[in-house]
Amino acid sequence: MYLTGHARLAGVIGWPVAHSRSPRLHGAWLERYGIDGAYLPLAVRPADFAACARALVRMGFAGANVTIPHKEAAFAVCDRITDGAQRAGAVNTLMFRDGVIVGDNTDGTGFIANLRAHGVDPAAGPALLLGAGGAARAIGVALSEAGATVTVCNRSAERAMALAEVIGCRWLDWVARDTALADHALVVNTTSLGMKGQPPLDLSLRQASAGLVVADIVYVPLQTALLAAAQVRGLRTVEGLGMLLHQAVPGFSAWFGVTPTVDDDLYRIVAADLMA
Ligand SMILES: NC(=O)c1ccc[n+]([C@@H]2O[C@H](COP(=O)([O-])OP(=O)(O)OC[C@H]3O[C@@H](n4cnc5c(N)ncnc54)[C@H](OP(=O)(O)O)[C@@H]3O)[C@@H](O)[C@H]2O)c1
Repeated sequence: MYLTGHARLAGVIGWPVAHSRSPRLHGAWLERYGIDGAYLPLAVRPADFAACARALVRMGFAGANVTIPHKEAAFAVCDRITDGAQRAGAVNTLMFRDGVIVGDNTDGTGFIANLRAHGVDPAAGPALLLGAGGAARAIGVALSEAGATVTVCNRSAERAMALAEVIGCRWLDWVARDTALADHALVVNTTSLGMKGQPPLDLSLRQASAGLVVADIVYVPLQTALLAAAQVRGLRTVEGLGMLLHQAVPGFSAWFGVTPTVDDDLYRIVAADLMA
């Protein structure tokens, strides 16, 4: 694929950035749609973030994704924040429009889109959110807006309480997580537990309601111990890689002018990259 002088440019800003799968994901779409454009890994030290974001605007980039550790700094550098990012309290997607930096957050909509792609209606019943970090906030707000009754359950009670206040929902003590499964239609692991290098999430599914859907947003490994245990019990599962793919759609569409499709081919390409 050749670039012309008109090529549209975007990328992912992180430190480090080498672990990011976003260049592979956006690169696959650029190739699929024959777009004159590029999506680059941009390794930027925390101290340089604001200067580099402003420089990208001046260099004619269309925008960028923002990953660890820049999500708070990204909020501060934006000239305008979308309602979604305001509610999520974080920015993961920057769009540069006529010199203005607009910050959006696509994690919540990406999670809901992935649920729907698995045939799960987010409003079908009460949802139990395990975790109260950045991803939990975006997902909790999105689930609530989609019509679900959300309950937050987190190791640190203060963070559970604070997030429940943001969402406008109830919260439970961490020790109540197993028994709470009996009263919920959906449970979502938004903690970092189960991720490669972390201990597994300690959750017993013995009391799970019959139709419980078990979603995990961890995607390394693709099949977490939680999802494997749910499948053994015959419960429906929703994996985290799909959320990563769906959350990338709005950025690609804004930067490159094509709304891309998330399908099995894309899943296979990014999954193979993760396993390599
Ligand atoms: N699929 C996707 O597209 C996607 C998108 C975003 C994030 N993620 C994944 O989601 C996970 C969370 O990300 P984040 O940015 O929300 O992280 P974060 O803000 O650091 O939050 C981490 C959460 O995990 C909990 N936790 C950590 N260790 C624990 C333990 N030993 N026992 C119980 N709870 C524990 C924390 O509880 P405390 O409050 O008690 O510390 C907190 O609720 C990561 O694995 C990330 O890779 C996936």
